[in-house]
Amino acid sequence: MSIPNGVTEIDVAAARADTPGCAEVIHLNNAGAALPPRPVTHSIVRHMEREAHIGGYEAAEAAQEELESTYPAVASLIGAQPHQIALTENATRAWDMAFYGMPLSKGDRVLTCQSEYASNYLAYLQVSRRQGIVIDVIPDNEFGEVDVDAARRMLDRRVKLISITHVPTSGGLVNPAEALGKLAREAGCYYLLDACQSVGQVPIDVKAIGCDFLSATGRKFMRGPRGTGFLYASDRAIAEIEPPFIDGHAATWTSRAEYVIRTDARRFENWETNCATRIGLGVAARYANTIGVPSIWQRVRSLAARLRESLSSIPGVSVCDRGQVKCGIVTFNCKDRPAAKIKAHLSQLKINCSTIEASWTRIDMDGRGLTAVVRASVHYYNTEGETDALVEAIHAIMTA
Ligand SMILES: Cc1ncc(COP(=O)(O)O)c(C=O)c1O
Repeated sequence: MSIPNGVTEIDVAAARADTPGCAEVIHLNNAGAALPPRPVTHSIVRHMEREAHIGGYEAAEAAQEELESTYPAVASLIGAQPHQIALTENATRAWDMAFYGMPLSKGDRVLTCQSEYASNYLAYLQVSRRQGIVIDVIPDNEFGEVDVDAARRMLDRRVKLISITHVPTSGGLVNPAEALGKLAREAGCYYLLDACQSVGQVPIDVKAIGCDFLSATGRKFMRGPRGTGFLYASDRAIAEIEPPFIDGHAATWTSRAEYVIRTDARRFENWETNCATRIGLGVAARYANTIGVPSIWQRVRSLAARLRESLSSIPGVSVCDRGQVKCGIVTFNCKDRPAAKIKAHLSQLKINCSTIEASWTRIDMDGRGLTAVVRASVHYYNTEGETDALVEAIHAIMTA
């Protein structure tokens, strides 16, 4: 059935039949790592077997086309060109390759957000200690999103980078990535977007966002394998930014004292890699493209909204998500019950959720007075019955 805006109703039963894990668990930890669909797992196992039978290098040669096909598949998920994609071992390394490659020096300012992810903020702190850059945190607006007007007021010639998280690890909000892209262009500074938690659930067009770099992981809403990620680099970023470290894949040693760096985004990659999971990432990207991210977006939002509403009606449960636009991530706390205990109890019922501690988004969580939250993250293959099971379990805990 086709509904407006190119959104198609997802055949949830078929999606579940293609996802063996659905028969085993109620998986509401998609922001941790989603259950992969069958073709993803098969492609990985098939390549591992190929390696075992004919040798790793020979298997890669035989699978050259499949390996190459991951680039256009990932690119089309975010409106990019294949030459703008670097495949990495996770989102953090993708992000690092962009951030640590930035030409930042003493007194340069980096604008980031309150809900910035720990690993990113740690990198700011390290570069601040080493090179004397200034980290400036853009305040949240009344909805908990990055305040674009405040960001505009913070701009000056010393701002060299705007670097924010699209969907935080600690809540269901979606930050206004496009509006910040516009600001970055006006200011003439670089713009790095951590889209680790949004790719695969939120429709993304890097051209509309106007970012120089975007980093993401394979295992979350893309439903790819663990240990995969990618970096998008705009043509300007490819031309201007050198990776912080290079190898014989990123560059060619042309004479004793000289080398030439690649002219595509693969300059941010390294040579040795897991070919099987790279193939799996490509399969996952094509799978998501076939279902259609706008359709996925519609379904995760509606499942999550329903879940938030039901959880809020349980006495003692507080839903913590903020933001005008909310995604498939639902965070909550249960009065007088530690988040870790709730997660452990749910896990006994074969309901997978996760907990997020303050150290993962220190500024955001400290600011809200939260030490931890329970995080239930839905994907399109989840059912209303599954989220109801979570609500029932929480209800039982709260009335015990
Ligand atoms: C917002 C955000 N950025 C980055 C990461 C890191 O991703 P990876 O573990 O693939 O490096 C995460 C992981 O949870 C995240 O939530």
